[in-house]
Amino acid sequence: MSLPIAVLISGGGSNLQSIIEKMEDNILDVDIRMVLSNKADAYGLKRAEAYGIPTAALSHKDFSSREEFDTEMVRILKEAGVEAVVMAGFMRIITPVFLNAFPGKIINIHPAILPSFPGVDGQGDAAKYGVRLAGCTVHFVDEKMDHGAVIIQAAVPAYPGEDEDDLRKRILKQEHRILPQATQWLAQGRLSMEDRFVKLVEADVELAERDTMSLVNPPLEKGF
Ligand code: GRF
Repeated sequence: MSLPIAVLISGGGSNLQSIIEKMEDNILDVDIRMVLSNKADAYGLKRAEAYGIPTAALSHKDFSSREEFDTEMVRILKEAGVEAVVMAGFMRIITPVFLNAFPGKIINIHPAILPSFPGVDGQGDAAKYGVRLAGCTVHFVDEKMDHGAVIIQAAVPAYPGEDEDDLRKRILKQEHRILPQATQWLAQGRLSMEDRFVKLVEADVELAERDTMSLVNPPLEKGF
């Protein structure tokens, strides 16, 4: 039984693309009912349309408050039968109106190893800091930005002074693996939370080939 999900975006949608492709390859047990963006010109909307996935674009300028914006987002997603939400480059803070509509079912990808470098430019902040390890995190979304319980993280080497774009690309490659993996665990009902600790129910599945340029924990399963 596929989990009906929505994917929220604000930009290019390469993370959305990785989820769509794994769904199309029957690796991901999800049914993307809606791709919603707060930017009407987000290229990710075109990626969804190319697969016949319904899309919606909401401009915050059309709403008098964050709560009103979130109320409309919830209406659109509930109408589409959405049961879980994947935030993939969605650059808006959500309110309890949205959180309470999908309790424990909202996950987000952040391009840094939280709690380091939260905020709008995790990759750039890590690069400017001169870290030796950078990476990305998928976490449950709670009322604070980039703060929810951690599901999976990937670390990649960083070279102080390197071209920031090279680091962004290295991190993005791992984002495209850990976000679909976390989405699959959500779809399989294998994730639970005890305070800040996420528990992953083990399953008899093959692990992916070890990738020597990254350290991923929990380890990726075959197909991701
Ligand atoms: C990604 O690094 C994501 O983590 C960040 O924006 C970048 C582009 O994401 N929020 P996408 O290509 O729109 O998925």
